[in-house]
Amino acid sequence: MKVIGIASSPRKGGNSQTLVEHILSGAREAGATTELVRLCDLDIQPCKGCNTCKTGQPCVIQDDMGELYEKLADADAVVFGSPVYWFRLNAQAYPFIDRFYAYLKPDFTTDFPKGKKFVTAFTCGGVGPEVLNPLNDYLKNVFSFLGFVDAGFIWQGQCYQLDDLAKYPEKIEEAKALGRSLIQ
Ligand SMILES: Cc1cc2nc3c(=O)[nH]c(=O)nc-3n(C[C@H](O)[C@H](O)[C@H](O)COP(=O)(O)O)c2cc1C
Repeated sequence: MKVIGIASSPRKGGNSQTLVEHILSGAREAGATTELVRLCDLDIQPCKGCNTCKTGQPCVIQDDMGELYEKLADADAVVFGSPVYWFRLNAQAYPFIDRFYAYLKPDFTTDFPKGKKFVTAFTCGGVGPEVLNPLNDYLKNVFSFLGFVDAGFIWQGQCYQLDDLAKYPEKIEEAKALGRSLIQ
């Protein structure tokens, strides 16, 4: 079983990345192999909307998305972690999501392997479920279109400074349990 964590925050070692890492650590405890990918370490350019991919040709953009796509296709579960920036995901998350368009065939079906598990992990400041639930629904819609199944949602507020998540040991335990639950 392979579990890949995707951290979208530009802040290395920040709260949302750490929340993802705790989920991955739970998955490892249960026997999975895991990998963490930080989107900001990669070159993932925005979709140009050229629709070349809808003529049966590959994406015209040559960057790190192709390799990341292969990793996702190879994983059994994906954990996506993001901070909340102005009531949505941070900017670096969106090019990654948009570029999945190139992996939809001209008839908008996909050969992406079905049934992989998808987990959402957010950290934020002061917002609550009224903002986070719709954001989770948005991600679940995107990834269910690609054939993923919902495998959980976790979040923690009041995470402003780099290691604020450490103030919430019960959330860290919940994250590890969520990671372990992926291996069933
Ligand atoms: C540009 C920016 C916008 C933010 N907007 C919000 C917001 O709308 N609501 C909120 O609760 N927190 C907001 N925050 C706080 C972050 O979501 C929070 O600090 C988060 O835990 C940061 O994650 P990180 O440590 O992984 O980078 C914002 C932070 C930044 C830098």
